[in-house]
Amino acid sequence: MRSLVFLLLVALASAKVYERCEWARVLKAHGMDGYYRTSLADWVCLSKWESSWTTTSTNLNTDGSTDYGIFQINSRWWCEDGRTPHSKNACNINCSDLLTNDVGVAITCAKRVVRDPNGIRAWVAWRSHCENRDLSEYLAGCGL
Ligand SMILES: *[C@@H]1O[C@H](CO)[C@@H](O)[C@H](O)[C@H]1NC(C)=O
Repeated sequence: MRSLVFLLLVALASAKVYERCEWARVLKAHGMDGYYRTSLADWVCLSKWESSWTTTSTNLNTDGSTDYGIFQINSRWWCEDGRTPHSKNACNINCSDLLTNDVGVAITCAKRVVRDPNGIRAWVAWRSHCENRDLSEYLAGCGL
């Protein structure tokens, strides 16, 4: 029983779900505000709709690739998961590293994605939920 409780605590500890302003502060500390013509609110909005700010989020795509982590970064182009044919791994990382509480890895990879010509438009959720919208609610009350 004690070990079960321990395992449960480990599981809870590793499935980090950020609170909105907490996540916005982490993004800002990592230099995301203004990074390649993006705003802090763009990133808070994008990650809300991609993962609900959950570091352990994964989703299988119809093409057999998988989206990983708080930004739902795709294994076709950006990371290696050992089961996506012809993947590019442009971030040069193991996809599982996008699921840990060390969000610096995911943020560094998101920066790599946004430096591509498509920029932040690479994220479908950004286009459908954040583009051309008033995003002020995403930073409201955060003091940022
Ligand atoms: C990625 O990391 C996981 C967990 O550490 C490991 O099991 C897996 O073999 C690694 N995959 C690749 C493709 O390196």
